Amino acid sequence: MQSTSDIDKLAYNGLTEHTEGLPADAYYDPRQYEREMQRIWYRNWIYVGRSSDVKSARAFRTFELGDQKILLVRDDQGILQGFHNTCRHRGAALCRESEGVLRTASIICPYHAWVYNLQGDLLRTSSKAHASGFDVADFPLYRISVKEWSGFIFVALTDAPPPFEKIFDLPLNRLAAWPLEELVVGHVLLKTINSNWKIFWENYNECLHCPGVHPQLSRLVPIYGRGLLEERDDPQWSLHADDAHPKFKGGLRRGAATWSLDGKTTGIPFPGLSDTDRQAGHIYMTSLPSVFLVGHVDYVRVVRLLPLGPEKTELRVEYLFSAQTLADPSFDMRNVVDFTNLVMTEDAQVCELNQMGLRAGPHVRGVVMPEEYVVRQFHEWLHAELARV
Ligand code: FES
Ligand SMILES: [Fe+2]
Repeated sequence: MQSTSDIDKLAYNGLTEHTEGLPADAYYDPRQYEREMQRIWYRNWIYVGRSSDVKSARAFRTFELGDQKILLVRDDQGILQGFHNTCRHRGAALCRESEGVLRTASIICPYHAWVYNLQGDLLRTSSKAHASGFDVADFPLYRISVKEWSGFIFVALTDAPPPFEKIFDLPLNRLAAWPLEELVVGHVLLKTINSNWKIFWENYNECLHCPGVHPQLSRLVPIYGRGLLEERDDPQWSLHADDAHPKFKGGLRRGAATWSLDGKTTGIPFPGLSDTDRQAGHIYMTSLPSVFLVGHVDYVRVVRLLPLGPEKTELRVEYLFSAQTLADPSFDMRNVVDFTNLVMTEDAQVCELNQMGLRAGPHVRGVVMPEEYVVRQFHEWLHAELARV
């Protein structure tokens, strides 16, 4: 027979063994950063934007990911095609603009006018003759993997990306009750933080900092005010197992419905959400290394990371609403945007604080505390990704 304390221990989420953090220089060493770009950012599915950003046939967008330049173009069949933004002749960039619509169904290199179709096949060169052994079929654009899912565009700079169905920590259909595909980007927030991209994810993966750093959020989500993400993060959780209060069970404080300044919904709540989803107030879906989505009852928040250097990361937050909400004259977006911007600014500040202290000579590495078990999982993911051949 197990004693109560054994059962507690089995169900407890927290770490029970002393656990070390990553080496301090993993957060600023340029060689480590380059390794992570090569092994993680250039091999996994990376979120780049919404399908509506490249909506019509012949619409295109360019993006930069590390030192890689990407060109996305929608072909005349409506399929989104992705290429390295590089000509096969002498390697010129094909497209300088960040977005636009092509005049014809072709991509023409601005240097010596090689012409490609929108599937990336080389149609013709500008040479008067071709040398024997040269075949246009051998010089298509360098293709990348592209996936459109629920209105979100992901790319992978490899022919053999990991299975798309597994890119989130939850099943792909977890937010099926939210009309993701039809939602409209109502607002975008851009923020550059002076910290390594891994520091952002570490901070995202724990709430030990919440009581001190996020006073307003901790009032909205009472369990965060206890420094915990969920019920079983408390080693004594079973003592409160029958208490439905959100400070033990998680979810929003009583009377609140969404993440906003006053806890009230600003938009029209999505019909079809379950009671559980409504009570939770937020469903997080995370896709390392580039994005997390949060389903709230009246909007969806999309937070994308883009490393800009070993100690610099861009955050882009997209707020998705229904078209009805955006058309509603009484809708006040500031209630949502100001609140989440406050939380994000608080997080950005501690990420920068974390980065600032890392170069102390004696600080070889930090410690991962019991509540930071998801930080530990992130480190395990990182090690596995770096070791993957
Ligand atoms: S580099 Fe593109 S045609 Fe010469
Ligand atoms: Fe935070």
